[in-house]
Amino acid sequence: MSNDSAAIAEYWDAAASSFDDEPDHGLRADHTRLAWARLLRSWVPSGPVDILDVGCGTGSLSLLLAQAGHRVTGVDLAPRMVEQAREKLADAGLPARFLVGDAASPPTGEERFDVLLSRHLVWTLPDPEATLREWVGRLRPGGSLVLVEGRWRESGQSGVPYVAGAERLPWTGGIGADALTAVVRPLVADLRVEPLSGDRDLWGGPVDDERYALIARI
Ligand SMILES: C[S@@+](CC[C@H](N)C(=O)[O-])C[C@H]1O[C@@H](n2cnc3c(N)ncnc32)[C@H](O)[C@@H]1O
Repeated sequence: MSNDSAAIAEYWDAAASSFDDEPDHGLRADHTRLAWARLLRSWVPSGPVDILDVGCGTGSLSLLLAQAGHRVTGVDLAPRMVEQAREKLADAGLPARFLVGDAASPPTGEERFDVLLSRHLVWTLPDPEATLREWVGRLRPGGSLVLVEGRWRESGQSGVPYVAGAERLPWTGGIGADALTAVVRPLVADLRVEPLSGDRDLWGGPVDDERYALIARI
């Protein structure tokens, strides 16, 4: 692991125990959880399908996908995030596999997936363009890439500075839909963007920065 990756893993390990306190992370409120479940249903084929949740964090979206009957594998760089995700799915009595690993090369060998989902991760990748190419290669023909992204006012957890060297990350602070579309379009067969800023249920309140999902089919 590079020094940068080790610092990033350490940051998220430290954030893991309180990560779910944010409404859009823990999805504790019914209306927030239902809003995400509804969106996931619209993005993911009716199952069960094989889904790779990259940068899965505490597994909140993995849980919704497993509840919908999908076969979910979550990957995250931070071991404590992975622990939280395992615990969350175990408490719900749902099967899912969680692995510690780098999004740049998810540790799933030759396996191919029907859907690769990633929420709020690409802004912190050292080489996001190479990682996106790798992700497309992990999909089965006809598979879908679902990226939930945005451009935020702050990077990382509010109030806590992000890792030293974050300014060197190419997409630090997030990436807008037009810029991400330009990178993904050459890799996929078709692509659409759904704006998400207007749905306050998703975020636990109104937001005024750019948030969206990019859904692509290969
Ligand atoms: C903002 S959180 C999002 C978590 C989850 N996707 C969600 O939406 O609730 C970013 C997550 O990406 C993970 N992460 C950061 N860099 C990573 C990398 N290179 N590979 C895998 N996971 C990474 C962090 O540990 C953290 O769990």
